[in-house]
Amino acid sequence: MDKIVIHGGERLEGEVQVSGSKNAALPILISSLLTDGWNTFHNVPDLVDIRTIKKLLKSLGVKIEEGETLRINAGEIGSCEASYDLVKTMRASILVLGPLVARMGMARVSLPGGCAIGARPVNLHIKALEDMGAEINLKDGYIEAKASRLKGATVYFDIPTVTGTENIMMAACLAKGTTLLENAAREPEIMNLADVLNDMGAKISGAGTNVIRIDGVDELHPVEATVIPDRIEAGTFMIAAGMTGGDVRITGCDSGYLDALIAKLRDTGMDISTIDGGIRAVGGEKIRSVDIKTLPYPGFPTDLQAQMMAFMTIGGGLSVITEAVFENRFMHVSELMRMGADIVIEGNNAVVKGVPKLKGAPVMATDLRASASLILAGLAAEGSTELSRVYHIDRGYQKIEEKLSSLGANIKRVKR
Ligand code: UD1
Repeated sequence: MDKIVIHGGERLEGEVQVSGSKNAALPILISSLLTDGWNTFHNVPDLVDIRTIKKLLKSLGVKIEEGETLRINAGEIGSCEASYDLVKTMRASILVLGPLVARMGMARVSLPGGCAIGARPVNLHIKALEDMGAEINLKDGYIEAKASRLKGATVYFDIPTVTGTENIMMAACLAKGTTLLENAAREPEIMNLADVLNDMGAKISGAGTNVIRIDGVDELHPVEATVIPDRIEAGTFMIAAGMTGGDVRITGCDSGYLDALIAKLRDTGMDISTIDGGIRAVGGEKIRSVDIKTLPYPGFPTDLQAQMMAFMTIGGGLSVITEAVFENRFMHVSELMRMGADIVIEGNNAVVKGVPKLKGAPVMATDLRASASLILAGLAAEGSTELSRVYHIDRGYQKIEEKLSSLGANIKRVKR
C-alpha cells in the first residue's frame, strides 16, 4: 500500500489552486438521477469518493462520459439498488435514496452502518421520506422505500443534517405539492445543489437558511453546472501556512465560506487577507493557542477540527477543542501524540497543551480529515513522518502531495 513520506521543517510559500468540492460534487452528480438526458458538470474533483459515486451510478444503469468535464445521462435507470459493497465504502451513497424514490417510485439502499467517526445514523433521512408518504421497510440490512408519488410535507430535522437535507431536497423536487424543510442544514454545498436543481427546473427557495421551501414539479431537465471550490481543502492549506510560518496564496476559493476558520486563524496570530480570486494566509511569529467548538455551518466545520488540532499541538498555550457534531471524532489524537503532542481527551473535549516541536514518526491515517491533520503535523515536525493507509486522504484531497511540494514541502508518495 502507498505511503506518504514527509521531511518536516520547510516553510511553505507560493500559490496553490483549490479543486472542486467533494461534498458539493457528490450530491450534484447524483441529482442527474432526477433528469432524462445528458448533464454536463464542470470542476468535478478527481477523487476516490467521486470514482465510487460514478461506480454506483453506473450500477444503476446510468451512462457516464469522462473528459475535461463529466457528462452523465440517467435516461434509463435499470436498477434501483445501492449495494452494501458501495455504501459501506462511502456513506454519502445514501444520497441516491431520495432521488430514486422520487423518480422511480422505489429504492433499495444498504444501511451504511457504523464508521470510524461514530454511529452516524440515517434515521432523519428515513423519517423525512416517511413524512412525505413513502413506505419504508428495513430488511436484511437494506432500506426499502416505495411511493407511487411522494407528497409535499413539512419536515422537521431534529439535527441539521447535511446529506439528509440534500437527500430530501432532491426528493421533494418531484413530489406533489410543497415541502418545507425546517431546521435544515445551511452548508454552502447545499446552496450549490439547490442552484443546480433550480437550473434543472426545480422550485427551491431558502437554501442556505434553516427553512427550505420546495414546490414540487412534474419533471426536471438536464443542465450544465459547475461545482464550487472545496472550502475544506482551502482551509487545510491555510492551516499549513500557519504551521510552517509560511506565506501561501490559495486561489480559486471563496473566503466568504471560511469565516469561522479565518476568525480563529487570525486569533492565532496569522495574517489572512482576501486577494484577487482567493485568500493569502501568512503564518505569525508566534502561535497563540485558541479554543474551538465545531458546529453546523456557519459554525466551525467539523471537517477542519483535526487539522486545527494539529495546529494547536504547537501553540503557545492551552487549547480546548470541543467536537459537537460527531461523537468519536478524535482518532487522530493518539497518532498526534506519537509525534510528541500533549493532548488529553475528556468526553467530547480535547485539551491540547502546545509543545515547542513535534517529532516525525510513523503514523497511520484513520479517516479522511485525520489523515490531513497528520500530514500537517508532519510538515511542522522535526525529522521524517511516514503516513500509512493513505487511501483515506485520496478520498478527499486531489494530489495533495503534489500541491504541497509545489509550495516547497518535502513530501512524496512512495508506491508499494
Ligand atoms: C456531511 C459531510 C461530512 C461532514 C458532515 C458534518 C458530505 C458527503 N459529508 O456528512 O464531510 O463532516 O456533513 O458537516 O457532505 N445524524 C443523525 N441522524 C441522521 C443524520 C445525521 O443523528 O439521519 C447526526 C449525525 O450522527 C451527526 C449530525 O447529525 O451527529 C450531523 O451529521 P450530518 O450532517 O448528517 O453528516 P453527513 O451528512 O453524513
